[in-house]
Amino acid sequence: MLKEQKEFARRRKQFLRMVGVGNIAVIASASIMQRNSDVEFPFRQNSDFFYLSGFDEPESVIVFLPGREQGEYVLFCREFDETMALWVGASAGLEGAAEDFAVDDAFPIDDIDDILPGLLEDKERLYFPMGAQPEFDKQLMDWSQQVRGRSRAGVSAPAEFISSDHLLHEMRLIKSAQEIKHMKKAAKISVAAHKRAMQFTEAGVNEYQIDAEIKHHFMSNGAKSEAYPAIVGGGLNGCVLHYTQNNAKLNDGDLLLIDAGCEWENYASDITRTFPVNGVFSDEQKALYQLVLDAQYAAIEQVQPGNHWNDPHDATVKVLTKGLVKLGLLKGRVPTLIKNEAYKPYYMHRTGHWLGMDVHDVGDYKIDKQWRLLEPGMVLTVEPGLYIQPNAKEVDKKWRGIGIRIEDDVLVTKKGHEVLTDGAPKEVKDIESLMEKARVA
Ligand code: GLY
Ligand code: MN
Ligand code: MN
Repeated sequence: MLKEQKEFARRRKQFLRMVGVGNIAVIASASIMQRNSDVEFPFRQNSDFFYLSGFDEPESVIVFLPGREQGEYVLFCREFDETMALWVGASAGLEGAAEDFAVDDAFPIDDIDDILPGLLEDKERLYFPMGAQPEFDKQLMDWSQQVRGRSRAGVSAPAEFISSDHLLHEMRLIKSAQEIKHMKKAAKISVAAHKRAMQFTEAGVNEYQIDAEIKHHFMSNGAKSEAYPAIVGGGLNGCVLHYTQNNAKLNDGDLLLIDAGCEWENYASDITRTFPVNGVFSDEQKALYQLVLDAQYAAIEQVQPGNHWNDPHDATVKVLTKGLVKLGLLKGRVPTLIKNEAYKPYYMHRTGHWLGMDVHDVGDYKIDKQWRLLEPGMVLTVEPGLYIQPNAKEVDKKWRGIGIRIEDDVLVTKKGHEVLTDGAPKEVKDIESLMEKARVA
């Protein structure tokens, strides 16, 4: 058994207990996706599947059978194949799966049609990631139907089909020490990549060159992938929330917004920094930047166990609205402006999301229609922003076209919080001094 399997085994034990004796859970791996003729997209394992198995191959299915005497954990996977090994590399095969991944029973994936219906027999409930892989859902229905067809032989098919999301995603929401270690590593690499980008930036450089610097840092430090396509938006492009073209020349006097994070051992980091292309904030840029930074500090302060999910967002809205009034971009009474969501043309997204194996990670935000309370082990982003669109005629011209977001990854701890990504400079003076040093070097 591989060393890391201890952690996966612990998760499986908990999951098996939740699924319960007499029931079954079935989860399929991700599939290889075709990019174009003979070329595939890089394979990324399904997060639920990996969370429980640590098994990183496509064409695999894991089955949980609590209480089954011959073993509670079954894997269907590819058999070892000499030709495959030669062309694309070795797969674990049945023996490898049994030895390294602590499965009780391993079967060839090609035999699943013959074996899985038998495992469904006489089970009360079938848990699976309903809706996530529609093709596989259909297969499960077909296998269940086969069992139903044998009812006269005295076997019964699962009577209840239940989404496994609720059980698994509540588990994934609270990160273990091991998961936090992976997230810290992802954060560390991404922090350094942002610093590198700041040092590399100057007028005349293209967004794609900055993007390449970031990717270079990720990959040369062992990250297999970005956690999401990086946003590298200079000037007006910083006002486009999901800008990913990353192909414009950077202009003197503009800001550059970079939203980029790598994935480490299938755990994401998600960092945004905004800084001046020429290394020095203009007065207007500084005023709006400082406001977003103040909002971010206020929001991070709200990340405490026992506070509710929306507290950081509420704090952000309060600080931003007050500040926009002070700077003259909004007019009126702050409570009324907040109630009427007058900030929304300039701040249209929420202040964060869960972070984990998926960049927008799993886990409910509300329980019984109430915002859920923060608990130690949860990780969330805190990412306020201000985007003054170029056509915002209602505000003074000097503010238009400025887009700012500041994003950090924050772990809820027993006593409060820990910012995993605060090594990336965000104070005005720290950014300016890092860029100044790079210029004179
Ligand atoms: N990078 C994706 C996000 O910030 O939500
Ligand atoms: Mn984010
Ligand atoms: Mn982001």
